[in-house]
Amino acid sequence: MKNFKKDFPIFKQKVNGKPLVYLDSAATSQKPQTVIDAINDYYSTYNANVRRGLYPMSEKATAKVEEVREKVRKFINARSIEEIIFVRNATEAINLVAYSFASHNIKAGDVITTTLMEHHSNFVPWQQIAKDKKAKFDVLDIDNNYHVKFSSYNFKNTKLLAITHVSNVLGTINPVKEIIKAFRKQNPKGVVLVDAAQSVPHMSVDVGDLDCDFLVFSGHKMMAGTGVGVLYGKKEVLENMPPFLYGGEMIREVGLKSSSFAPLPQKFESGTPSIADIISLGTAIDYLEKIGMGKVREHERKLMAYGLSQMKKIKGIKIYGPTDLKNRGGVISFTLENIHPYDVRQTLGELGLCVRAGHHCTMPLHRSLGLMATTRASFYIYNDEKDIDALIKGLLEIQKMFRKK
Ligand code: ALA
Repeated sequence: MKNFKKDFPIFKQKVNGKPLVYLDSAATSQKPQTVIDAINDYYSTYNANVRRGLYPMSEKATAKVEEVREKVRKFINARSIEEIIFVRNATEAINLVAYSFASHNIKAGDVITTTLMEHHSNFVPWQQIAKDKKAKFDVLDIDNNYHVKFSSYNFKNTKLLAITHVSNVLGTINPVKEIIKAFRKQNPKGVVLVDAAQSVPHMSVDVGDLDCDFLVFSGHKMMAGTGVGVLYGKKEVLENMPPFLYGGEMIREVGLKSSSFAPLPQKFESGTPSIADIISLGTAIDYLEKIGMGKVREHERKLMAYGLSQMKKIKGIKIYGPTDLKNRGGVISFTLENIHPYDVRQTLGELGLCVRAGHHCTMPLHRSLGLMATTRASFYIYNDEKDIDALIKGLLEIQKMFRKK
């Protein structure tokens, strides 16, 4: 397979004389030169606000942003650009749905259902809304192979189901299409939000095929800048929601006593957007599409298979996540016996390896596993087997060091 690292300038550097090994793409991804150039080009040659100025630079910036909206639409197979809302990140997208949709539609006694493997972003907002509205907050458990237990759950009273597509800790790829089907059969009027922060960057995702009402993701995890995220919503659902943030550019008419609001998608895009980052998302999509999302997924699946086979050989390691690789994304969370994950992360860091340690914003999941923290290695297209070999070497060194102490 092509060596993608050369497209990413960050890998030119050394850390303590060693090559940089970046295994934290579930937190944020590295950026190819084309994406950095797109951001640079905007600020260097046509930096102007969008939709406000009628001069050529502003028109160019506006056209570029709208081009990206169409690219995103196509990338996730939405029906219309009205269904693509630019926000700052997946968290903001979920909060938009929580405050604009859920706070107006959830009533006392309704049920909001989520799962034990959610990131706090797709957990805490629903917990809060449920508290405010005196609704029931149900959390679907996971089985011994780290899959969500949904088949015996009764969705009849669930007004809103919020579920992650891929777990940021376990790597579990949830069968969201199947879950949504089961949900709709029991509850045709309920609404489903899919947190796709860990799936859209890594595999082909089709919102029409999933039949979700909302789907959210962040640009920075798919090679774009850090200030852009996407909320996809079915047009008929978005149309019936009030604005989330009020202000400039989301209005139609403002009077002294009342105001009316712009049509979709502007209704939900108040204030100046992250123009450069939106443009960078378009370039990131170009980069990913050139490779092909099927190939991205296949590359990560192979790396995962290699990573797991090598890591399993380490004595005293415990790996969390499904054993069926077909249903597992490029994330490996683990613990080393008698060594704290923070020590693992710090020592690996000194060796030039970037991994995350902690609860990864999933305290309920970690608690259910009887853990306070894990160390997590996560992959993307620029990782290769050498990175895994460096990780294994690093972990063996750490074990040796801590044995001596
Ligand atoms: N959600 C990101 C992660 O899992 C930040 O690391």
